[in-house]
Amino acid sequence: MVEQPVKGEYVWFDGNIRPIDGIGIMLDTSSLHYGTTVFEGIQNYNSRIFRLGEHLDRLFHGASVLHMGSENIIFRPDGGFFTKEDITQAIEKTIVANGFTEGCYIRPIVFRGSGSMLGVNALGAPVQVAIITEIWPQYISNKPAVLSQFRRMDPRSGIAGVKAGGSYLFGTFAKDEAVEADGSEPLMLDTNGFLAEASGANIMVVLDGQICTPYNNTGILPGITRDTVMNFIAKDLGIKAREMNISLYDLISKATEAFWVGTAAEVAALMELFITIDVLQRYKESLGPKKAYQLETAIENGNGCFETRPNPVVGKKIEWYEGVLVGDPEKRDRLIKAGEDPEKTIAGLEKQKTVGGVRLQIGTKSPVTDRVAVAYRNMTRGHDEKYTNFLHRIRVGMAQENLGKSTGRMLNKNKA
Ligand SMILES: Cc1ncc(COP(=O)(O)O)c(C=O)c1O
Repeated sequence: MVEQPVKGEYVWFDGNIRPIDGIGIMLDTSSLHYGTTVFEGIQNYNSRIFRLGEHLDRLFHGASVLHMGSENIIFRPDGGFFTKEDITQAIEKTIVANGFTEGCYIRPIVFRGSGSMLGVNALGAPVQVAIITEIWPQYISNKPAVLSQFRRMDPRSGIAGVKAGGSYLFGTFAKDEAVEADGSEPLMLDTNGFLAEASGANIMVVLDGQICTPYNNTGILPGITRDTVMNFIAKDLGIKAREMNISLYDLISKATEAFWVGTAAEVAALMELFITIDVLQRYKESLGPKKAYQLETAIENGNGCFETRPNPVVGKKIEWYEGVLVGDPEKRDRLIKAGEDPEKTIAGLEKQKTVGGVRLQIGTKSPVTDRVAVAYRNMTRGHDEKYTNFLHRIRVGMAQENLGKSTGRMLNKNKA
């Protein structure tokens, strides 16, 4: 596993492999303004791509919902279209061009490009497709999850369940919040206050020995890993799995384990949850007095402990202002002219340097999580014969040949 992400030097863009730093995106690209993208996150494990068919189905479905194609095709700027087989070959070519056959994360993205008036009507802008590949370090750290103030999108919004860029706006805010509390993933609730998901993974909670997960129609992304665990792994392990509304109270007072599942996260234990005082207060207000009291008691009776955690984002901001004060008189003068007193700003930031809240332990051991994680590992790495049909074998020879015909000679020359 790498410590730092490795970016693929080459991308596939509208039919051709090109150097990533040679792609100039126009500033009037419609999707840049309005978030009208659909994308996927897919894993290649040693030249085998896990559940590629399902990922492409979700991508094409999203493109269809956003009028960028149908369930079977995605439009091209030249009036043609791409099929799922075209995108499969494109993914294979991108992986081979980057020398990432041993493993990588694959990100196809469909978006509305440049060319129409900048207005909100996106339909005139050409549909474009790109594929980026990267090698990622471990996605979810061992730091606590952080309860978010942001809720998942109302499922009645019409695009809930589609992996659309715009739907990630609050996910990124929630992730920032988690990082600001020195945590890992945010735990977001749905519009009714039940557990929903993280910014990049679904949640599973072990209650009475059963694997429980929020319903698919609550605004969450219908995850492919979620499906894998619920419909295949749990069955194989003889563990009952079911969908249900799970409250924060259930998680804190009844759950014996909880874990995240996702293509990037794989299966990652959620052992601790941090709730800031502000978020806890707002959540209790949304509950009404009886349930708020119940939750409060559960926190007190459980092993919740008050804690102040460093806010690394504020820490960095303070460093920046101090650097300006100490070493950059010109910048300091410009800041003052812009109406800011850096010393006052630092004093204000000092008060936000730490975040106070309660840290709760969700279970102490994770036997179910561990069994699920091992089964998922075996399945994705091709060690479980029953599921080799879930793995799309990359046709390396064909990809190399295709690359050779177009840009391959250039790629090889560059690499030499
Ligand atoms: C918001 C969100 N939920 C859940 C998931 C898990 O989905 P999958 O298992 O299909 O990767 C992801 C994956 O990226 C996600 O972004």
